[in-house]
Amino acid sequence: MRHFLSVNDLSVGDIRKIFSLADKARRGASIGNVEGTLALFFQKPSTRTRVSFESAMIRLGGHSIYIDASTSQFSRGESPGDTARILSLYVDFVAARLYRHVDLEEMASFSHIPVINALTDLEHPTQALADMYTMKEVKGTCEGLRIAFIGDIATNTANSLMLAATKLGSDIRLVGPKNFRPNAEYVAMARRQGSVEIYDSVAKGLDGADVIYTDTFVSMGMEKEAAKRRRLFRHYRLDSRAVGYAKKDAIVMHCLPAHRGEEITSEVLDGQRSVVWKQAGNKMLIEEALLGFLG
Ligand code: CP
Ligand code: NVA
Repeated sequence: MRHFLSVNDLSVGDIRKIFSLADKARRGASIGNVEGTLALFFQKPSTRTRVSFESAMIRLGGHSIYIDASTSQFSRGESPGDTARILSLYVDFVAARLYRHVDLEEMASFSHIPVINALTDLEHPTQALADMYTMKEVKGTCEGLRIAFIGDIATNTANSLMLAATKLGSDIRLVGPKNFRPNAEYVAMARRQGSVEIYDSVAKGLDGADVIYTDTFVSMGMEKEAAKRRRLFRHYRLDSRAVGYAKKDAIVMHCLPAHRGEEITSEVLDGQRSVVWKQAGNKMLIEEALLGFLG
């Protein structure tokens, strides 16, 4: 029985296997016996991850139950470990979206069924798998790609993407304000696998990029800091001038939801280089594959 809490939980071979299962899911071929029920235990809002996991289970022949954590006893102090013990009695998988990564780790350590990270403050690993799968689909390979992540370079998606990118042979550049640092532990882990460079110049950071990636400036749970963050990142908006520094055939990615006019302009989001809708669609295939892999 395996959990998927971090990109670190998978080897390169595991990721290749998941990508090939996702190819099968795309073709409508069977990816093995995944039956039973998935509990989606969510403390934070979601559109894509929730609906794609639910649809993935239906496509696999299983079921899912969505639990808004604020309506569960978790919100009244039942521990993550006890919650996981109880869910293990009733369902076959848990995908949890929580604030604190340590709560997810506690759930996993008490769970008798696979626990999947559907986003925490620290990581968004299912997203990183869908992102790298999309890059492979569009660019043919992940090997040798230069990925530039611009904006909030300390966010969960950046952490997971730097681990996944370097694992699969891509270089990553983190492009953000001078006085704002990425997560040092994640940079160190990613650097053991490949190249991670940090830039405060948008022109230099995006120079020669094959992939430009951005995410919201105000992640879920940071609403109180919204005004400060919008000011801090205001020069790191992905607009057509910024895109112009990358390669001519560079693609634009965003985990979504997008805040049009804030971290990305509509012109870029809806432009010819944008693969964001393909990227979002691939989440469901990757989740089917992941459930098949863990099941
Ligand atoms: N990308 C992503 O995780 O979107 P949701 O918050 O809508 O699930
Ligand atoms: N960094 C964003 C990702 C949303 C999918 C957040 O945590 O809100």
